[in-house]
Amino acid sequence: MKKYFLIILLCGVNAYAKPVNFEKLYQSWGADITKADTKKARTMWTQEFVAGRSCASCHTNNLKRYGAHIKTKKKIKPLSVKVNPKRLASIRKINKWLKRNCKFTYKRECSPQEKMNFIEFIKQN
Ligand code: HEC
Repeated sequence: MKKYFLIILLCGVNAYAKPVNFEKLYQSWGADITKADTKKARTMWTQEFVAGRSCASCHTNNLKRYGAHIKTKKKIKPLSVKVNPKRLASIRKINKWLKRNCKFTYKRECSPQEKMNFIEFIKQN
């Protein structure tokens, strides 16, 4: 019994440590990695479809910098993987926050294409 528990535990740890396969992640959304458009993401990053709200409102225009939540004023660590290796390391976290942040920023969920554009853009910056 103990042995099985340990095996399950190790599998869990292993799944967490595995790097995200982005191609597969985008496929799971129904998007095609060869069509990723980071220029579009760059434009959308600062665009306000709802007055006073864009991705940059909380994450700033420089992904290597700290941001701050526009409502709670709580600090947000940089999104750039280059300065914050903990970013884009968990599929669960990526999905959760994209859903929440798109709803907050645009009052709708982002399309698979938009989500892929954003993640590829973040990876570049
Ligand atoms: C109201 C403030 C706010 C806005 C606006 C916002 N975010 Fe975020 N975002 C957060 C917070 C808070 C977190 C989670 C806290 C953390 O991980 O530091 C987060 C986390 C994320 C993550 C998770 C990264 C990871 O792997 O750790 C991604 C991706 C992301 N945001 C993308 C976006 C995009 C794209 C937009 C624009 C559509 C956006 N955010 C707009 C506050 C915001």
